[in-house]
Amino acid sequence: MRQIEIKNCSYTYQPGTINSHQALYDINLAVDAGELIAIIGHGGSGKSTLALLLAGLFVPGSGTVTIGDGNIPPEQLFREVGLVFQYPEHQLFAQNVFEEVAFGARNAGVAEDYLPIKVRQSLETVGLDPDQYWYSSPFELSGGQKRRVCIASLLAIDPGIVILDEPTAGLDAVGKKWMKALISSLNQQGKTVIWISHDMSEVAELARRVIVLEQGRIILDGDTADIFSCEDQLAASGLEIPHAARLVRELKAKGVPIPGKAVTVAGAFNELIAYLGGDSAD
Ligand SMILES: Nc1ncnc2c1ncn2[C@@H]1O[C@H](COP(=O)(O)OP(=O)(O)OP(=O)(O)O)[C@@H](O)[C@H]1O
Ligand SMILES: [Mg+2]
Repeated sequence: MRQIEIKNCSYTYQPGTINSHQALYDINLAVDAGELIAIIGHGGSGKSTLALLLAGLFVPGSGTVTIGDGNIPPEQLFREVGLVFQYPEHQLFAQNVFEEVAFGARNAGVAEDYLPIKVRQSLETVGLDPDQYWYSSPFELSGGQKRRVCIASLLAIDPGIVILDEPTAGLDAVGKKWMKALISSLNQQGKTVIWISHDMSEVAELARRVIVLEQGRIILDGDTADIFSCEDQLAASGLEIPHAARLVRELKAKGVPIPGKAVTVAGAFNELIAYLGGDSAD
């Protein structure tokens, strides 16, 4: 089932002014229910702008963005598609964590009696102790905790499409591992998940489809393994292939008889174990 369709879209910041800047050109993209998509690209290539278009928060200068059947009123789109901004502080506004997480759910029609239960569940899902943080100001939390609050707000609304703009940026190893598990689990629960990342190993491990942006245009869109086989095109865009992919390709180039196609650590391990003789990582 098609959930989002973007046709021939462009987006210009501050059009018609001296500061006018075209961020997206002729974007065509269709997203089906249940997909797990990573958007990658150099800084300034238009990833966050595309996320805002996908979430229906930006209106394109030309072209069309269709979300769901196209008949959802703009003020109801937040129930279908939730976006966690690149900088969570740009979307936090409430005086305490409870009000922050409850706000969207209340607007989505969750009954007032049920709100505390919903907020509690959402905070637990993102690993924040409800009793400890209920009355905390969201602005006084750490960067990682702020992002968790934004994700909890989104989970309390329970949209079918979740868009996360650089959710692992700035997190420590434990935080990254937790966020990757959350991305997988949201997708396994049936949600369509689109996330933006600069971490190619993370993308290789999780994404089934990868979209590559360069200077406001989609230059590649396809299966993860296929995208990471376009090493020269990625390099021309200032992007590297995952470390594991580089390892197996360099070994193959040096004459080690392995397929050299793996993009994840587990895949590289299996290629090497098959060559050396032993048990696979699966
Ligand atoms: N509010 C704005 N006004 C004018 N230009 C903007 C604005 N926001 C972004 N841009 C420009 O639009 C282009 C795309 O920006 P965008 O934030 O979408 O890139 P990005 O790929 O998300 O970058 P990053 O990896 O740094 O987050 C950039 O050239 C940026 O400078
Ligand atoms: Mg960005």
